[in-house]
Amino acid sequence: MIQARTSAPEETKELAAAIAALCGAGDLILLVGDLGAGKTAFTQGFGVALGVEDPITSPTFTLANEYQGRLLVHHLDVYRIEQLEEVRDLAIPELLDGAAITLIEWGDTILPALPGDYLEVRLTFGEEDDDRVIELRVAGPRWMARKKALAEAIHSWRDPSC
Ligand SMILES: Nc1ncnc2c1ncn2[C@@H]1O[C@H](COP(=O)(O)OP(=O)(O)OP(=O)(O)O)[C@@H](O)[C@H]1O
Ligand SMILES: [Mg+2]
Repeated sequence: MIQARTSAPEETKELAAAIAALCGAGDLILLVGDLGAGKTAFTQGFGVALGVEDPITSPTFTLANEYQGRLLVHHLDVYRIEQLEEVRDLAIPELLDGAAITLIEWGDTILPALPGDYLEVRLTFGEEDDDRVIELRVAGPRWMARKKALAEAIHSWRDPSC
């Protein structure tokens, strides 16, 4: 696990941009954390780094948004999904097949419906209002291979105690 800390939304966006630089087609990122933790903020910084010009907004009601940047960015929010069967309608395997990167807010709640290769980004609240602790966990060979590069990319936000 790689642990980082940010103390402003812009910092979380910059950290996301640093991670985006390591990503390629077919990558899956699960965004985990309570309401208001910064999952959408992370996606905004991530998208900008990939050249997305349209404003990235929360897909809480639409479930899935799509943005064109250097690659296609699929931004899903599965907060409202109650049954695992509903995930089928989102056609996630097809999304992952294309020349796209997929980010899923609350992705940990649908793990059985997802492939085993992903980066988990877990955001939790810190001491001050704008403090966030960001934990990165790699799963599967695609991300395992990038673990060192990931740690280096976010070096400026690393928590020295971890
Ligand atoms: N360090 C920080 N990192 C990210 N967001 C921060 C930080 N400090 C303050 N914020 C604020 O916290 C809020 C995060 O909202 P955001 O919509 O990104 O959360 P979310 O995790 O997507 O919530 P939801 O589960 O409702 O979709 C924003 O208002 C943002 O400005
Ligand atoms: Mg959100």
